[in-house]
Amino acid sequence: MEDAPEVVRLEIEGTVHEFRVIVGSQGEKAIDISSLRDSTGYITLDDSYANTGSCQSGITYIDGEKGILRYRGYPIEKLAAEKTSFVETAWLVMFGSLPDTAERQWFTELLMENAALHHDMDQHFYAFPANGHPMAILSSMINALSTHSRPRVHDRESYIIAAARLMAKVRTIAAAAYKSSIGEPLIYPRSDLKYVANLLHMMFSVPYKNYEASKEVSRALNLFFMLHADHEQNCSTSTVRMVASSQANMYTACSAGVAALWGPLHGGANVAVVQMLSDIRKNDLSVGDYIKKEKNKEDGVKLMGFGHRVYKQFDPRAKILKGAADQLLTSMHITDPTLDIARELEQAALADDYFIERKLYPNVDFYSGVILRAVGIPLNMFTVMFSIGRVPGWIANWKEVHDNPAQRIYRPRQIYTGAVEQQWLPRNDRPPSLPDMWD
Ligand code: SDX
Repeated sequence: MEDAPEVVRLEIEGTVHEFRVIVGSQGEKAIDISSLRDSTGYITLDDSYANTGSCQSGITYIDGEKGILRYRGYPIEKLAAEKTSFVETAWLVMFGSLPDTAERQWFTELLMENAALHHDMDQHFYAFPANGHPMAILSSMINALSTHSRPRVHDRESYIIAAARLMAKVRTIAAAAYKSSIGEPLIYPRSDLKYVANLLHMMFSVPYKNYEASKEVSRALNLFFMLHADHEQNCSTSTVRMVASSQANMYTACSAGVAALWGPLHGGANVAVVQMLSDIRKNDLSVGDYIKKEKNKEDGVKLMGFGHRVYKQFDPRAKILKGAADQLLTSMHITDPTLDIARELEQAALADDYFIERKLYPNVDFYSGVILRAVGIPLNMFTVMFSIGRVPGWIANWKEVHDNPAQRIYRPRQIYTGAVEQQWLPRNDRPPSLPDMWD
């Protein structure tokens, strides 16, 4: 690829304007248009921001054409192969490098010390309706955390402690949301269990019987969380940065991230994938039938878990999760018909011009649900699991905004297409404002 020029030129109404070119550490090129409106009177318009960089960031690098994903320079394939735990990956994403032994020990202790919720917080769970969606509860309770201990980040240590507190409590809140939704008593964290095993303990133990996660299950869920830890400027992380830019606190910003993640086009897709696979099976549809419906865009049918704004080839996380799903089911001696359907669907789609032309490949959500089902996570908790995994990425992005001395509040412009100036009329002289309602 040619070297980028220092500047680019844009001719507008006969005047040539120059704009600086920014080149990232991996060669990505951007035109710095921060002076565009002042120098030309024009703004750019890029609905859904497909061509717009919102920031410069040093946390995660994605190459969508090559299917590369690295956290602070570490390829996810390497982190997966070395069985790097979610907690170590979280340290890497949030603090910039892999922890040494003493740091790892300190972080483990911080996560344990901060795992329990203030007793007042427990009361909230009993106030939510039993069928309240756990994503709504998670977002509310993360925000509520700041009513007890507003995270005050002023140096490295206070940042690490605030981050550990949020990571520790998100897991407890998730388990408590699940427990209250099934009418079981809340289970407290144990000091002898690691992060993931403690989550499963708080979800599946009952007062008279402890749940002990198997090594394979803990490993699979660690891998699931590790692969969800960050993903540059996706919808929910951009939301966190937007909220962080007004100088709102870390917890409030992450609470907004949960809200954005919930949608079926984003983190909610892991639920939609399993619903899609189950519907195909329940309605005894062949994969070919389903793909036909989808290509005809019948009732907006989409192949959930397929396609990505950035990846125009296999999502590298999907490749790892596909293998992990296989391995887990084999080790648990279970078969899941939805995995067979997923594999068949993937094969059919990858051989179909409709998907090839549109560069639609499986994304992180396509196989993740199979793992969560095998672990026994209920469907309405799937996106909560995604949230737990993504918290380190949200925290790291909040911190980048917080630390940037030149940071300004995110405030995009718009092109107005509404009514031009109107004359005010007394009520009796006005025409009906909704004529079709009164026909
Ligand atoms: C995540 O951004 C991130 O990094 C997100 C994420 C992360 O880690 O944070 O990776 C996590 O959100 C993964 C994506 C999960 N969502 C889904 O699986 C939902 C299904 N996928 C699509 O809705 C879609 O692919 C998106 C939302 C993921 C991306 O949408 P884009 O980039 O806006 O693409 P588009 O909707 O403009 O589609 C382009 C074309 C269209 O065809 P035409 O209208 O031009 O003929 O591709 C088609 C779309 O119809 N298309 C699909 C499709 N996805 C896109 N057609 C069928 N099935 C699909 N899944």
